[in-house]
Amino acid sequence: MPEDLIERQSRRSVLLFSIAAIGGSIGVFSSLTAAIMSYIGGPNLTAALKGRQLEESKRALESQLELIKLKVERVNSTRIPLAKLSEIEEGAGVTFTDYALQPAVLFKTGERSCIARSAVCTHLGCTVQSNLVDGRIYCPCHQSYFDLAKGVPLSGPATLPLAQEPIEIDGDTVFLVKQQSPIKIGPGQIPMLPL
Ligand code: FES
Repeated sequence: MPEDLIERQSRRSVLLFSIAAIGGSIGVFSSLTAAIMSYIGGPNLTAALKGRQLEESKRALESQLELIKLKVERVNSTRIPLAKLSEIEEGAGVTFTDYALQPAVLFKTGERSCIARSAVCTHLGCTVQSNLVDGRIYCPCHQSYFDLAKGVPLSGPATLPLAQEPIEIDGDTVFLVKQQSPIKIGPGQIPMLPL
C-alpha cells in the first residue's frame, strides 16, 4: 500500500476515534448530569413545590370557610357571646369580629362594666393594639392614642374617634349586639342611602 494512502487512512481513523470519543463523553456527561440533578432533588423538588402549593390552597380555603361561618353566624343571630366577664383582665382587650366583619376589641372598665370599640384605626386603617397603653388605646402604625371611654384621638395623626361597638352584659357573659343599621362611617366614606 502506498505510504500516503496509509497515512491518510490512519489520520481518518484518528479523526473517527476522536469523534466517537467526544460523542461518548457527551453521552456520559448527560447521563451524569441527569443523575446528579435527580440526586440533588429534581423530582423531589417538584413534589415539594406541589406540596407547598397544595398547603397554601388548603389554608386559603380554610380562611374562606372561616369567613363564611362568621357571615352565617352574623346573619342568623341578634347577639354573639364575646367573653366571660370574670375572665377579662383589665387593660387586656379581647379581640373579636364585629357584625360588619371588621376587627374590634372589648375592654373591661369596672367590676361589671365593659366597653367595645372598633379596632380599625381612623387614620389609615391599621388594627389598634388589644392591650391598653397607659389606659389608652394605641395604634402602632403611626403612634395614635385614643381615649378608651370616648374613643376620641388624644395624640398622633388620627383625627376621628374609634367607633363604639354595641354590647350587653347578661350574667357573666358579654355579648355583641346586632344593631338595625350596622353601617359605620370611616374617614373619607360617604353613607349609602337606600334607593
Ligand atoms: S393607621 Fe393608626 S396611626 Fe396611622
